[in-house]
Amino acid sequence: MTAKELRQKYLDFFKSKEHSIIPSAPLVPENDPTVLFTTAGMHPLVPFLMGEKHPLGKRIANVQKCVRTGDIDDVGDNRHLTFFEMMGNWSLGDYFKREAIEWSFEFITSEKWLGLDPRRLYVTVFEGDDNSPRDEESVRIWQDQFRKAGIEAEVTDDDKKVGETKRIVPLGADDNWWGPAGETGPCGPCTEMFYDVSPENGSLDDNFENLLDSFRLLEIWNDVFMEFNKKSDGTFERMKQQNVDTGMGLERTVVVMSGKDNVFDTEIFQPIIRKIEEISARDYGSPENQRPMRIIADHLKAAVFMIADGVRPSNVERGYILRRLIRRAVRQGKILGIEKEFSRDIVQVVIDEYGESYPELTGNKDKIFEELELEETRFKQTLEKGLKKIKEVIAESRKTEKISGSEAFGLFSTYGFPLELTREIAKEHEIGVDEDGFHEAFKKHQELSRTASGGMFKGGLADAGEKSAQLHTATHLLLAALRKVLGEHVLQKGSNITAERLRFDFSQDKKMTPEEISEVEELVNEAILKDIPVKCAEMTLEEAQKAGAMGVFGEKYGDKVKVYSILDFSREICGGPHAASTGELGKFRIKKEEASSAGVRRIKAVLE
Ligand code: ALA
Repeated sequence: MTAKELRQKYLDFFKSKEHSIIPSAPLVPENDPTVLFTTAGMHPLVPFLMGEKHPLGKRIANVQKCVRTGDIDDVGDNRHLTFFEMMGNWSLGDYFKREAIEWSFEFITSEKWLGLDPRRLYVTVFEGDDNSPRDEESVRIWQDQFRKAGIEAEVTDDDKKVGETKRIVPLGADDNWWGPAGETGPCGPCTEMFYDVSPENGSLDDNFENLLDSFRLLEIWNDVFMEFNKKSDGTFERMKQQNVDTGMGLERTVVVMSGKDNVFDTEIFQPIIRKIEEISARDYGSPENQRPMRIIADHLKAAVFMIADGVRPSNVERGYILRRLIRRAVRQGKILGIEKEFSRDIVQVVIDEYGESYPELTGNKDKIFEELELEETRFKQTLEKGLKKIKEVIAESRKTEKISGSEAFGLFSTYGFPLELTREIAKEHEIGVDEDGFHEAFKKHQELSRTASGGMFKGGLADAGEKSAQLHTATHLLLAALRKVLGEHVLQKGSNITAERLRFDFSQDKKMTPEEISEVEELVNEAILKDIPVKCAEMTLEEAQKAGAMGVFGEKYGDKVKVYSILDFSREICGGPHAASTGELGKFRIKKEEASSAGVRRIKAVLE
């Protein structure tokens, strides 16, 4: 069964159970600031799980594109993916455990649908804790299902050993309590379904965890019974309505349907792998080529979908994740001995494969090519030297068994090695990285204190402070551009920066024309494209004025002032902080130009 057929079957099945089908939401969540990417199908449905009425009713099903960043380092084994599709069905205060489990069992085992062997099916249930008791109801419902297929299914003993009759494994909250997707929100106990992917290896008769670790059992579906809301103080409250949220992994289900034992051997990944074989003139069958090929396939595919949904490589938030993925893929290409740039050929395969189901890929084809090639080219310029440098650093760090924070930072700032890449290469040489030291060096460099806020910035470099440093630098570029386009009468009258946008007031009595606005945008974006370092020097106010630095009229300055310059483009007295170089800023766009007060105009602008 192909991925396309499976998507259709799933949706048809739930249509037959009176579900309305909704399209996939974008990968970038529209209204949820607590996460970077859509990580599960329930994500865009949170308001409806919380009680808002869904226009299409109480039963919903879809196929949702998802990105999970927590598993990036595991990609290369038989099941972890960065980008994947999740098929899901929801009850918004309608059916609950019985129907959800019955339908899962029917879809998996009925000849009319997937026709998989119930003897190869094992399930987990929530074993209970202080928040909620053991899920006896799910145990009973599962036993009823197995009985229909003539199988006696019992709960495992304390040793969690599964076998012919022991098919129901109670596990704790780490495994069987799902959500919330961000810091707060709907969550509850869940029951997960696992399939034996290699029965030819003899009877199972082993501890459940071991069977997972040895990839013998593959999780395919998760039914979550969402009755709780996790609040920001960490406590749980029972929600008004009982919901069901399920997620069936499309790629993993294709694995079990195709009789393979890993996602990369299925028709979903094979066309991409074959293209990598062709480009590298190497064989996927050789064990040493497998991991790099899998990483390239996974990462570039994820990158394609991210760019199509508006993400651009950068050093913050989503853009940083995208950058990490592309740069890691480029390095894996090097491991395979690929000399030329290769992202374009691979992207083409991904678009061919997914364009029909996800028209946003075809629609944004040019942008996808452009962004990927730009990032690949940029990184390739420093990769060779960076790899030489890290080799030296590793040799010097043998004694301490750790690459120092400042060396790791140097690899990042000079050679564009994301911290995670340095960590990965270090690990290959069995040494570590002083990551706290890296963050300290980074912080020092940015001259700002990080205000890392929750899950949003976990694992990345970015924080709200960094974004505002970039907007601050953009403000300097904006002032310089306005003076070029409108004239030297333009002076700063006010400035305000949030994590999302800059606001800049300046002296000018006429409304700007659309041409003037685009000219200013272009000038700023040109300066960004040139990736000019932002230099800071301390001097007396007099020296600063002599050097032609702009200051804000009426502002009181101390004995010494800081002057930030961006080559000859901009020179301003300012306290900072700023981005290290203009290339970090992303694309500058003016959202609004309006009157602020008499003789003063106001611009609101963003970095995208
Ligand atoms: N939201 C559940 C999951 O992602 C279904 O596993």
